[in-house]
Amino acid sequence: MKTTVTNRQDQDVRRTVEGIRLYDVAEFEGMRRAGRVAAECLDMIGEFVVPGVRTGELDERCHEFMVAAGARPATLGYRGYTKSSCISINHVVCHGIPGDKMLRDGDILNIDVTAILDGWYGDSSRMYVAGRPNRKAERLIHVTHESLMRGIAEVRPGGHFGDIGAAIQSYAEGERMSVVRDFCGHGIGRVFHDEPNVLHYGRRGAGPQIRPGMIFTIEPMVNLGAPQTKTLADGWTAVTRDRSLSAQFEHSIGVTEDGYEIFTLSPAGKFFPDW
Ligand code: MF3
Ligand code: CO
Ligand code: CO
Repeated sequence: MKTTVTNRQDQDVRRTVEGIRLYDVAEFEGMRRAGRVAAECLDMIGEFVVPGVRTGELDERCHEFMVAAGARPATLGYRGYTKSSCISINHVVCHGIPGDKMLRDGDILNIDVTAILDGWYGDSSRMYVAGRPNRKAERLIHVTHESLMRGIAEVRPGGHFGDIGAAIQSYAEGERMSVVRDFCGHGIGRVFHDEPNVLHYGRRGAGPQIRPGMIFTIEPMVNLGAPQTKTLADGWTAVTRDRSLSAQFEHSIGVTEDGYEIFTLSPAGKFFPDW
């Protein structure tokens, strides 16, 4: 495939014709380090997710952790967002704003953090449970995690972005759940949100070709009910229109010569909640 070379900040920046940036695999080390901070932050916060805690307190702990690791929370000041994490509870799909809200027994929640370290962005999110989930919530979390991993398994040079979306959609819908269409994954690297839009639905073979050096997130949101969302008056909080439960997992990954590398794996093996 043809690529364009543009000069930016004294650096040759390679992009595909679709505008997707290609990094040198030697540069993946920066993503490993930033991704590790995000993953360790999400490992750290798990023990504090209990009934009675306020989401603002969880956000402050994430903030302190990232700063202590020498990183900056990417969401802080991003398009007017003023928190270091997004915390999305129950029917909140994504971009929940941490604050005074107190967790209750059985709440399920996604915590999404992005750490900037030495100019590299590591973006990841996971599900947590305050206390114990009910069976439906547990199944939703399981299916959403499996959706992400099936999407990631499609990543290989020569494949297409549509392969990722198709794998996620066919699996989640086969489990009688729905995939949110209003939000997608994204190119990442030295910027927070870059080309391409990584759709979590679609057709095999559709979309741009996947090439070594691409770095992007996959972050499917899966609902127990219908896929439609609406954004609340705060301008951020996205909820399911039918108020059904929603879950999400996110990894930042890079495309290698023969597959992929996940930059945001949990060093402690805690990516999936162990209730
Ligand atoms: N981390 C989110 C993502 O996965 C973006 C959050 S932007 C914010 O892309 F402003 F809502 F924090
Ligand atoms: Co993301
Ligand atoms: Co994120």
